[in-house]
Amino acid sequence: MLIPMLTAYEKEHVSERQPLPERYLGLSDAEMDQRLAAAKARLGRRAVILGHHYQRDEVIKFADYTGDSFKLARQVAAHPDAEFIVFCGVHFMAESADVLSADHQQVILPDLAAGCSMADMADPDQLELCWNDLEMMLGQSAGIVPVTYINSAASIKAFVGERGGVVCTSSNAAATLRWAWARGDRVLFLPDQHLGRNTAYKLGVPLERMVVWDPNEICGGLDADAPDAIANARIILWKGHCSVHTRFTVRQIDAMRARHPGIRVVVHPEVPWEVVQAADDSGSTEYILTVVTSSPAGSVWAVGTEIHLVERLARQVAPERTVYSLDQFGCLCSTMFRVSPNHLLWTLEGLVDGEVHNRIVVPADRKYWTKVALDRMLSIQ
Ligand code: 13P
Ligand code: SF4
Repeated sequence: MLIPMLTAYEKEHVSERQPLPERYLGLSDAEMDQRLAAAKARLGRRAVILGHHYQRDEVIKFADYTGDSFKLARQVAAHPDAEFIVFCGVHFMAESADVLSADHQQVILPDLAAGCSMADMADPDQLELCWNDLEMMLGQSAGIVPVTYINSAASIKAFVGERGGVVCTSSNAAATLRWAWARGDRVLFLPDQHLGRNTAYKLGVPLERMVVWDPNEICGGLDADAPDAIANARIILWKGHCSVHTRFTVRQIDAMRARHPGIRVVVHPEVPWEVVQAADDSGSTEYILTVVTSSPAGSVWAVGTEIHLVERLARQVAPERTVYSLDQFGCLCSTMFRVSPNHLLWTLEGLVDGEVHNRIVVPADRKYWTKVALDRMLSIQ
């Protein structure tokens, strides 16, 4: 596969993979495919392989189910009989799967280095400080409902669950904000400021009634404006972002429209607000796939999300429809990319031989409230 030009961040991080035993390196594509198919067949119904839409072709072709974060979380709950859930995705997804799975099930992440830089932008200590500061600024009856994007650590989800809050995904973010505002005056949304802003704006909240909380500043960097700005806010946005999706710009959309008159633009809601405003539509990865595949023949699309999804979609809908990447260099999620077929083979053959590699376990003291927050998520669509 052609790897498009990498950003400095990607170049720095793309090679930080979990090392594998020598015998799993340098295999030919044919041997890889044959051994992966054989291991999967031998495991049969004992293992369910889940693949996020950003995974590469060599991996996703072995997934039993593909989907966005919400759909894959539901697949965990739908397979209580599988002994192993092999999650081809990133760390927060595997953690959520562990919490949602039954005690006898084990969740495996093929490469332990497959994290998410956005999830790393919210630390439980920072959140606790933020919560205390907000109570100090607004009073104990601040009426804040915490909502965390599923792209966060289990410790963050547990904190939120314990305080009457909920986890959301990009596919149920709007319904989740409605749920939260039915329970309090304002929402603390973390860690992605863009998903929070885009979703709240879509629901009619003006930008003036949103504030950004910078976890690296004293009192979120808001003491100069506060208390008025915070008291007036319907949503407090944690200053986090996705380094992949913030690469999309309005200029790219203008250039696409100039080059392909009539083109439609669909983006993931992790892109900045002005990019969503300039696009025709936005939604989760599953939504993007649905909207493009069900569009009339002859449609031409520019898609603003991770490059593996875009390239696969382009091949799937051609020649009836045409799909371009909104970023001509393609945006690669370097951590999703770490899950290689070699890592998948090592974990699957390990299971065949009775060895469990890379099990993801959320500590028991964090599980209860994390599950409460995730169960609330699954109940909101
Ligand atoms: P989806 O839930 O839309 O698949 O998004 C997950 C993600 O990490 C997007 O960057
Ligand atoms: Fe995280 Fe962004 Fe990669 Fe999604 S695309 S997993 S938010 S770094």
